[in-house]
Amino acid sequence: MTALEVSGGQPLCGRVRVPGDKSISHRALILAARAGGVSVLRGLSQGDDVARTAAAVRSLGAGMEHVVQDNAEIETRLSGGVDRLHQPEAPIDVGNSGTTIRLLSGFCAPFPWLTVLMGDESVSRRPMDRVVQPLRQMGAHVDCRPGCVAPLTVHGGSLRGIEYHPPVASAQLKSAVLLAGLGAEGDTVVYERERTRSHTEEMLAACGADVKVSAGGLVTRVRASELRPFELDVPCDPSQAAFWVVAACITPGSDVVVERVYVGPKRTGFVDVLRRMGAQVDIEPLDATTANIHARYGPLHATEVGAEEVPGLIDEIPVLAVAAAMADGVTTFCGAGELRVKETDRITTMSTELTSVGVHAAPMADGLVVHGGPPLHAGHVSSHGDHRVAMALAVAGLGGSGTTRIDGWEAVATSYPGFERDLQSLL
Ligand code: S3P
Repeated sequence: MTALEVSGGQPLCGRVRVPGDKSISHRALILAARAGGVSVLRGLSQGDDVARTAAAVRSLGAGMEHVVQDNAEIETRLSGGVDRLHQPEAPIDVGNSGTTIRLLSGFCAPFPWLTVLMGDESVSRRPMDRVVQPLRQMGAHVDCRPGCVAPLTVHGGSLRGIEYHPPVASAQLKSAVLLAGLGAEGDTVVYERERTRSHTEEMLAACGADVKVSAGGLVTRVRASELRPFELDVPCDPSQAAFWVVAACITPGSDVVVERVYVGPKRTGFVDVLRRMGAQVDIEPLDATTANIHARYGPLHATEVGAEEVPGLIDEIPVLAVAAAMADGVTTFCGAGELRVKETDRITTMSTELTSVGVHAAPMADGLVVHGGPPLHAGHVSSHGDHRVAMALAVAGLGGSGTTRIDGWEAVATSYPGFERDLQSLL
């Protein structure tokens, strides 16, 4: 186990480029594997989660060439197509990646073969009924362990489209059903109650799938389609940008620009919350879906984050809780029960760890109450093996007084292996 020590009170200044968006990277690999021909992908996330998806699509038959220059990967050339896909020879190990297991369950379901999907101890605790139920309704034979947890076995083939009303707001679930619908007979329609990130449907449309999204973005219909190969420059990940944005907002003297961040639907809710708290954060558009995000230090005050906002900032709540700890007043996060089934139960891990550095943070069944106040004191905290908890706690250390040690730091490899290097470049 490795640890990171962070000293508080040092301003962060400069420009930083965070990894390629993780959600887009997973989908790019999966859709390119289905598209007949060579797709060219640049700027994929270099974290372990996306590496697991890359390894999975290779084991399903996609060809992959990594073009490297000066020791850095500049592009991935992926040869895909339904004709080259086949049953994997061994179980697919998704590691810590919930997105990989859920998206692949839908991706494999139309094919007449057996896929075994397994993951680490965290993935093996996370609920899979949300994808298993609709895939069974579509005609796939899906087995899981008691409690409907991984490993999953998917015996696919002969799917029929369904009209599906997800019981939880989840882009992973919507995406699994849409990917299965790509190989199903008839229409597959997903009716969401709350909008979630829209990468799957946007990327499907871009590679020629028969997909239609309603004006408000809540209803998505897909039909069996062939995909054409594509070129993609993956924009930078807003969920990773959030760590530097909050760090700049809470550390006196800071002025940080996070470059070329994806700012499409349901990904920048954290900026709205920070602005409501009085933060100086500007989105400086570059094109329709990317922008530089410019954040400067300033005093923050408490806010309320309501259930309707949660799908647009679910992954940013750990670091927003850190902002709340540094703000004047009591901040509440409501309707965020999904946090309990992420890589860790983030309501418990964040309230426990913030409490250990002097914050009054109280868990609720579906949220968190954070009493803001004086700078956090020095201490030892733990990631509990959760990458976003690790990085949120590093940000807490930057805004605190003294030195904070984060145990289990290796968890950041899941999504942001270069976090420490980027931190050094901003100090
Ligand atoms: C993701 C969707 C979210 C998010 C996860 C990535 C995706 O999960 O928390 O980190 O890429 O679709 P849910 O769809 O389960 O809310």
